[in-house]
Amino acid sequence: MAVLAVTGSQWGDEGKGKIAGYLAARADVVARFGGGANAGHTVVLEGREFRLHQVPSGVLFPGCLPLVGNGAVVDPPRLLEELDALRAQGVDVDRLRLSERAHVVMPYHHLLDRLEEQVRGRASIGTTGLGIGPAYTDKAAREGIRLAELVDPDALARRLAEVLPRKNRLLQALYDHEPLQLDALVEQYADYGRRLRPYVGDVAAVLRQSVADDRRILLEGAQGTLLDLDFGTYPFVTSSATTAAGAAWGLGIPPWWVRGSIGVMKAYATRVGHGPFPTEQPNEIGQYLRERGREYGTTTGRPRRCGWLDLVIVRWAVEVGGLTGLAVTLLDVLTGLDEVRIGVAYRVGTQRIERFPARLDVLERSEVEYETLPGWREEVGQCRRYEELPANARRYLERIETLTGVPVHLVSVGRESAQTVERADPFVAAVR
Ligand code: IMO
Ligand code: MG
Repeated sequence: MAVLAVTGSQWGDEGKGKIAGYLAARADVVARFGGGANAGHTVVLEGREFRLHQVPSGVLFPGCLPLVGNGAVVDPPRLLEELDALRAQGVDVDRLRLSERAHVVMPYHHLLDRLEEQVRGRASIGTTGLGIGPAYTDKAAREGIRLAELVDPDALARRLAEVLPRKNRLLQALYDHEPLQLDALVEQYADYGRRLRPYVGDVAAVLRQSVADDRRILLEGAQGTLLDLDFGTYPFVTSSATTAAGAAWGLGIPPWWVRGSIGVMKAYATRVGHGPFPTEQPNEIGQYLRERGREYGTTTGRPRRCGWLDLVIVRWAVEVGGLTGLAVTLLDVLTGLDEVRIGVAYRVGTQRIERFPARLDVLERSEVEYETLPGWREEVGQCRRYEELPANARRYLERIETLTGVPVHLVSVGRESAQTVERADPFVAAVR
């Protein structure tokens, strides 16, 4: 049973698209299990760049079945746009299947996301503004609309007639916002439902059959462990489960089917949105990383906050995600620095903290204990074998392995899918 999860080990944007795209080439199925249009996954194949938000990277490979599970939230107009853009690039998207149990992001979710952020003021989360939090809130509050209803005009009209008056009262009373019109909304979303109907089905059943047929299955994570609703830097998190456990839940398969989890981690750290970031470098180091790493959001275009690698958080991702291997990305960005630093522990007063703390105030007061290693000047973009990497880059990677206790299976040395150093096939390692 070769079911492998690829998850983010930091605050998102680790290069999951690059790694998932690289592995999708040898997978039969690629399934997304959480998040929605807030994700931005870029895959570069032979110079052609594909920007994915809701569609799994498997769509780019004709032999691969792309699935979106019940744990994801689907934004119909954005998804239709994404499908059009992929088609325009010559990608056949007809194989895509969306779980009928996935929830729909509605226009009032977008509105509420933005209005809630305004009201939070200085305590705002820095969300992507795409309605993700309110959509998951409605799911938990049992006020959501699922794809199964979206594709059935009568069910959609019934459900919206129940839900919309409450949303309108909320919009008016709390935010002095004008109400949304029921008829127009039903008409617009019934049309989206009609266009999405061919893609909607019982994804969990398809996935279970794929496992029975001994297919190679990749579970493509979105966001990262530190953005996980339970394990992240709450409340500065997203609203879904981002680890391998979330993959089982978000796809309707037993957790013990997931044989391994590759943690994707940048060779340094970034964060977009607000919240604590102990190793942040708001200085020329951060500037260097931002420019060399093109650290601007694929979804929102926001400049990302940049800093040194923090292994306290990666070790946390190893613990809660049960990571069986690491994929270190953007190693090429570190070229040219005299020295490179790794955050290995936090300090508050005389207390040394090695395990990621739940309390935000502890994080905010933490000083970081760094290890400093020598840097390297060689460009690494042409390296394909581990031995070709500069000695100091290898030393850095081996230090990551020692401090996390997890082997580095893959190293990304550039945006192009082929710019990958493979030390072990993560699928083979997962089945072992
Ligand atoms: P990928 O899959 C980076 C962040 C937002 C914000 C917080 C909550 O590309 O790694 P939300 O809109 O989800 O309610 O915002 O989570 N965030 C991401 N940051 N990459 C992502 O996805 C993200 N998805 C959400 O910036 O801080
Ligand atoms: Mg992103």
